[in-house]
Amino acid sequence: MSSSLNQGNRDNQENREIPKITLTNGVEIPALGLGTAAIGSFTEDGPRIQACVETAIELGYRHFDTAAVYGNEAGVGAGLRASGLPPEELFVTTKVWNAEQGYDSTLKAFENSLKALGSDRVDLYLIHWPVEPFERVIETWRALERLYREKAVRAVGVSNFTVRHLKKLAKAGDGDENRIKPMINQVEFHPYLYQEELLHYCRAEGMPLEAWSPLGGGNWPGRKENPRPLEDPLVIRLAEKYGKTPAQILIAWSLHLGNIVIPKSENPRRLEENLAAGALRLSSEDREALSGLNRNFRYGADPDHVDF
Ligand code: A2P
Repeated sequence: MSSSLNQGNRDNQENREIPKITLTNGVEIPALGLGTAAIGSFTEDGPRIQACVETAIELGYRHFDTAAVYGNEAGVGAGLRASGLPPEELFVTTKVWNAEQGYDSTLKAFENSLKALGSDRVDLYLIHWPVEPFERVIETWRALERLYREKAVRAVGVSNFTVRHLKKLAKAGDGDENRIKPMINQVEFHPYLYQEELLHYCRAEGMPLEAWSPLGGGNWPGRKENPRPLEDPLVIRLAEKYGKTPAQILIAWSLHLGNIVIPKSENPRRLEENLAAGALRLSSEDREALSGLNRNFRYGADPDHVDF
């Protein structure tokens, strides 16, 4: 990394405002983080991932989202360690993959993730997808509850859960006064997939949504090509109005909704641009107009059809 970028980083870190969200258990999570799926190519691990994480940390990122299935926990962990920052200054999320769901297999998967990360801690552990039969998800959740009680993780949550899945999981805990509720639901979320019902349900439950592919940049194999929010005429017009970029408009909109947002980039200029969106305020009219862009477009998988 060039020295001018280094100087810029120091300035950025002083001026940068990364909003934080407090989870139901009091744990604080930086509302803007780095999504690490498919840095390089999917399941790529090694120096490229490490370098990207190191660059992001220099730019001021403190929150990193990975998953066992991304195959890059080792590179992410190496990047975190290379920063020299104490773990308490970082926030790291990983997830149990579908094939590992179940009670014992989840505990084992968690150990494997720790080993890969080269760490003795994870801040947030998530169930990656709601698989069927749902009994397996319930067993997986019991394992997450145990990890949380044993303080192996600071927070637990789910990913890609619809309202239906959340209600089923809640029902399984009915009558159990020791049960732990998911503290976050990480889902695909952007103006072309403004999941209003899910957003309101999660808000009422005190469970923030964490937006993956907040730019609508996902590119799952087999997904049909749809127009992208980054190229939407309204998004471009607002970018001009605020003197910002389309990506910054999308990130700021999601943050305004109370979401945690984890755009992926491996380009230093874009990493910096995305982080700077934390300080951007949009008018309520403009936010409503962005929410009105919904088209129910997914660039990733549909949680109601998890067959992978
Ligand atoms: P790159 O890694 O080359 O920057 P999402 O997080 O919504 O899935 O989007 C990720 C995609 O969007 C990646 O292809 C990433 O490419 C691209 N991207 C990330 N940040 C920006 C930005 N600020 N402007 C335009 N494209 C971006």
